[in-house]
Amino acid sequence: MAIMVENNGRLFNLHTKDCTYQMYADEYGVLLHTYYGKKIDGENLADLIFQADVGFSGNPEETVGNREYSLDCLPQELPSDGVGDYRESCIALLHGDGSIAADFRFESYKIFPSSYTVEGMPALYDKEDEKGETLVITMREKASKVTVRLFYGVFEKENVITRAVRVENRGESEVVLTKCLSGCLDYQFGEYDLITFAGRHAMERIPERNRIRRTKLEVGSLRGTSSHQYNPSMIVCTPDATEDFGECYGLCLVYSGNFTACAQKDQRGQTRVLMGIHSEKFSFCLRTGEYFAAPQLIMSYSDSGLSKLSQQYHKILREHMCRGAYQYRKRPVLLNNWEATYFNFNKEKLISLAEQAAKLGIEMLVLDDGWFGKRDDDNSGLGDWHVNEKKLGGSLKELGDRIHDLGMKFGLWFEPEMISEDSDLYRAHPDWALRIPGREPNRGRNQLVLDMSRNDVREYLFERLADILEHAPIDYVKWDMNRSICDIYSHQYAGSQNGEVYHRFVLGVYDLLERFLQRFPDILLEGCSGGGGRFDAAMLYYSPQIWCSDNTDAVNRLEIQYGTSFFYPVSSMGAHVSAVPNHQTGRVTPFRTRGHVALSGSFGYELDLNKMSEEEKAIVKEQIEDFHKYYSLTHEGTYYRLTPPGERFCAWEFVDEEKDHALQTLVMTSAEGNPLPVHTIVKGLSPDKYYCCSVNGQVHSGRTWMGAGLTLRMVPKEYESILIEWNVVEKGLGRKPI
Ligand code: DGJ
Repeated sequence: MAIMVENNGRLFNLHTKDCTYQMYADEYGVLLHTYYGKKIDGENLADLIFQADVGFSGNPEETVGNREYSLDCLPQELPSDGVGDYRESCIALLHGDGSIAADFRFESYKIFPSSYTVEGMPALYDKEDEKGETLVITMREKASKVTVRLFYGVFEKENVITRAVRVENRGESEVVLTKCLSGCLDYQFGEYDLITFAGRHAMERIPERNRIRRTKLEVGSLRGTSSHQYNPSMIVCTPDATEDFGECYGLCLVYSGNFTACAQKDQRGQTRVLMGIHSEKFSFCLRTGEYFAAPQLIMSYSDSGLSKLSQQYHKILREHMCRGAYQYRKRPVLLNNWEATYFNFNKEKLISLAEQAAKLGIEMLVLDDGWFGKRDDDNSGLGDWHVNEKKLGGSLKELGDRIHDLGMKFGLWFEPEMISEDSDLYRAHPDWALRIPGREPNRGRNQLVLDMSRNDVREYLFERLADILEHAPIDYVKWDMNRSICDIYSHQYAGSQNGEVYHRFVLGVYDLLERFLQRFPDILLEGCSGGGGRFDAAMLYYSPQIWCSDNTDAVNRLEIQYGTSFFYPVSSMGAHVSAVPNHQTGRVTPFRTRGHVALSGSFGYELDLNKMSEEEKAIVKEQIEDFHKYYSLTHEGTYYRLTPPGERFCAWEFVDEEKDHALQTLVMTSAEGNPLPVHTIVKGLSPDKYYCCSVNGQVHSGRTWMGAGLTLRMVPKEYESILIEWNVVEKGLGRKPI
C-alpha cells in the first residue's frame, strides 16, 4: 500500500519509491502538511512544527488562550482566505452577506485502489497493470456547509503524487468561489530556489532560476491559454541542486488556461509554494448542490537532481497522460508545407512536394493553413471550414488519394477556436465570438476567438471537422490556436457569471477535443498554438505531440527544446528541419545540424524540397535513416541534459532501457581560434558493461566512460554537430584502449 493511515484516521502517509508526503489532521481539524521529501518511516512529524506567539498572528477560537497556535504560521494543506493566515491562500469564498471567510476543517477520508478522474479535464490515468491509489480527504467549512474534497493520487514507481480539489456547495445559499488553487506546498525549513520557464512567441520555455525569499516570486498567464510567456510548470529545489545532485520538487499543472505559480517565504522564513487557476478574472458561482473541480497538479520529487526529476515526468506523462493510437506507435516523418509555401500553394505545388518527399523517404504531407474558405492570408476565413476546391484544384479527397497513392499519409491543419470577422460564420453568428457588447474588440492576428463555452459553437465545429475528416483520407490533424484571449464576455454567462468564462472556455476546448478523439481515434493529433503557446500536460492528453515553437532555427531550438525537456518528453516536441537563412532568425546552419536537433523531437521537414540541392537531398535520406535507427532511443529512451545552453557547445544524451546503447548529440554553438578541447561525460550507462564509442572505436567499461568521459579529437566548427554512439560489446572486443 502506498497510502498509510494511522492515528485514528488522522495521520496520512503517501509513500512512493523514494519519497514520503505526510499530512496530519490536528485536534482542531486543521489539515497540517507535516512532511514532503526523502522516504521515511512515517511517524507523526507534527512535532517538528515550532509553535510560538509571534505577535500579530491571531488564534482560532477553539485554541482558547493558546497564543502559540496560529494559522498564520502553520504548514497547511488547504490554507484558506480570511481566517487569520495572512499568507497567500489556496481558496477564497464570497458569501451571500458579503463576508469572505473560508474556514475548512477535516471531516473524513476515503481510500480507493485506483486513480481518480477530474470531471471535464484531463488527469493521469491508470494502466491495466499499473494502477495508482487515491486518498480523498473531505474538509468542511465551519459556517457555510461548503465542502472541499482534496484528491491525492499516488504513482509509486514514478515518485509522483497528484492533487486535485473539488468544492461543493451543500448549504442553502449561493456562494461565489473567488479562488481555488490546485495545490500548496509549505516547507517549514530550508532554503530553496524556484525554476520557472519563461519566454515569448518563438522563444518559449527558457528556464529562469531565482532564490525564494520574502519577496513574492510569481509567474502565470491571464491570456486564456497556458501561454508562450510562462509555462504551467515549476521546480522548487535546494540551492545546490544540479542535474545530478540535490533535492528537487516538480509542480506541473494539468491545465491549458489562466494559471498562477508562486513562491514566497513568510515572516518566519517558511516557504509557501502554490499553483492553480489564476484567481484574477476568475469567480465561480455555486448554487446549492453545485460544485467546482480544480485541475490536477502533478508533483514529483527527486532526491538526486534535475535529470531524475525530468525523467520521472517524461515517464508519467508518456505512460499515464498521453493516449490514443499514437501514444506508442511510431510517428511518421512529416513534411509540413507552411514554411515551404505559406498561403501560396495550389494542387500542383502540393503534389510536387509530396512526390519529392516520397522519393526521399518522408512519410506524410501536412497541408497547413489556407485550404478552406476565403483564406489567402491571415485576415479572413477562419470559421468557414469548407474546402476551397478552387484553390486545391479539386476535392480534398482527390488530393488525399493522390498523396496516399504515393505511399504517404496525409495531414490537415485546423484552427477551430478562432473566427475571422471576414467570414461567413461571423456574418451569420457575430454573438459566437468573444466580444463585449458596445466595445470594439482587441484583435490578435486580425482574428477573434470563438466562445468555446457555448454548446452550439462546439456543435458547429464538431460537425464541420467531422464532415471534412469523413470525406477525405486524413491521417493527422494539426490543431492550432493563434492568439491570446481578451474581451472575455459570453452571451451565455453574462453578468455575475462572466468570471466563469475563461475556465468554461478551457472546458469547452477539452470537450471538443475529447469528442474529436472518440470519433477519430486513429488520427494523430498534433497540438499547436503559434508553436508552443499551449505546450502543457493537459494538451498531451489529446495530442501526444505538440509543435514546440514557431522558431525552427536550430540554434534557438537548442534552448527551447532544453527548457521544454524539464517536464515534457522528447517524443512530445514537434521539431522540423527548415530552410536557411532561417525564416525567424536569418541564421545559416548546416543541414546536418538542423537534422540532428530535430531528431530529438517528433521529426519532420518544413521547407521546399524542390529547392534543395542534390547533396541536401542525400542528407535528407541519411537523416531519415538516422530517424529510424535511433527512434527507440529518442522516443522511448532515458533523456539526459549534459550542458546548459550558452556554453561553447550544447550536448544531450539518450540511453535505452537495457543500457546497451547510448546516443549523444553535440552542437557547437560558438567558434574560437586555437580552440579548447570538447569534452563530454557520459551518463546512464551500466558501470559493469563494456561500451565501444562510435567516434574513436575505444572500449571502456561504463564506469570509466561515466567517470572520465570522451574528448573529441577534432573540435567541430561553429554550428556543426555530431552524433556519438556507445554500443555495448563483450569485454575485450573492439579496439584496445591506447
Ligand atoms: C502558427 C503555427 O505555429 C504555424 O506552424 C502555422 O501552422 C501557422 N500558425 C499557420 O497559420
